[in-house]
Amino acid sequence: MEEIMRILTWLKPTDNQLHLWNYFGAIKPMMQLADKFKDAEIFLFLANMHGFTQLHDANQLRQNSINVLKLYAACGVDMERFVIYNPADVPGHAQLNRVLTCITHMGFMERMHSYKEALDKGKAKEMSVWVFCYPILMAADILLYDADIVPVGKDQKQHVEYARDIAMKFNNAFGETFKVPDVYIQSEVATIIGVDGRKMSKSYNNYIWLLDDEKIILKRVKQIPTSTQTVDEPKDPDQCNVYKLCKLFLTKEEDEALRKRYEIWGLSYKDAKDQLYEKIIAFVKPIQEKYKKISDKEIIDLLKKNAKKVNELAKKKIEEVYKKVWFTL
Ligand code: ADP
Ligand code: TRP
Repeated sequence: MEEIMRILTWLKPTDNQLHLWNYFGAIKPMMQLADKFKDAEIFLFLANMHGFTQLHDANQLRQNSINVLKLYAACGVDMERFVIYNPADVPGHAQLNRVLTCITHMGFMERMHSYKEALDKGKAKEMSVWVFCYPILMAADILLYDADIVPVGKDQKQHVEYARDIAMKFNNAFGETFKVPDVYIQSEVATIIGVDGRKMSKSYNNYIWLLDDEKIILKRVKQIPTSTQTVDEPKDPDQCNVYKLCKLFLTKEEDEALRKRYEIWGLSYKDAKDQLYEKIIAFVKPIQEKYKKISDKEIIDLLKKNAKKVNELAKKKIEEVYKKVWFTL
């Protein structure tokens, strides 16, 4: 029997909303990945325990996770195809983390980019022990399920390499146990700008939420800075913030037509903004309609159902590991 490839990916429910960059930078690439690897099984977990380095509001975090998953569903993520689960429902993550932490040396961890950066900035002493050990936690998340590939941006590449090294070390010491995962570098998403022309980011307060209403979207679009060129002057669309955002929503033909209007006719910024506004509304409206129809209960039930499935796999792996390291006789 041919083995099914397993892909492991994640989402971070840090807010109770998602903005356009979250869609174009995370959700859309995730759906494209699912299309590319049609026969693969895709595990998608909520990386919520991973951010627990500060005290937080538990109810808020719970609700964020539910809302974000409702948004994923509303955006068209196939909630049956993706096995979505909460690692907090799976004791195996912590159990494996325990074992892997014991076999990992400080010297190996000290090579971590983020640790070195903290050292350079004189901030290493303020780093929590948990953050220092973060790659081991990630290794547990990955190795628990024998993931074949882990798609990551460049910033997470080293973490997956840690998982590979830890898996090989364990396998060498105790015999073949873990699959050594491959890093799959996702192609960079072009920077998506916010309404102030800088990259769209929560820290800049320049985003458009997928659930924003028409009034707010209009206000946000009006805020977008444009040059002082007059209406009749031909303009370079690639220099225009309005175009940069609008382009996200255009088909190839629409894009060509719009570029011509900029380059030949000197499209007015008012018209460009009107068009962008229409495009954003046409994009978010169906998402908002769908979102309203999904209940919290549907998400909670789905997580429960999937917790059962992944727990079965995780338990088997933990049994195998515990036997090998002689925790169980
Ligand atoms: P944020 O600003 O939302 O906190 P980070 O700066 O931590 O995001 O970036 C996380 C990853 O997402 C990085 O790989 C970064 O290049 C990418 N990224 C963040 N914002 C954008 C954006 N608006 N457009 C494209 N990529 C982005
Ligand atoms: N480190 C990832 C992030 O900060 C989240 C994450 C946790 C993860 N465990 C993982 C990613 C395992 C891939 C595999 O965004």
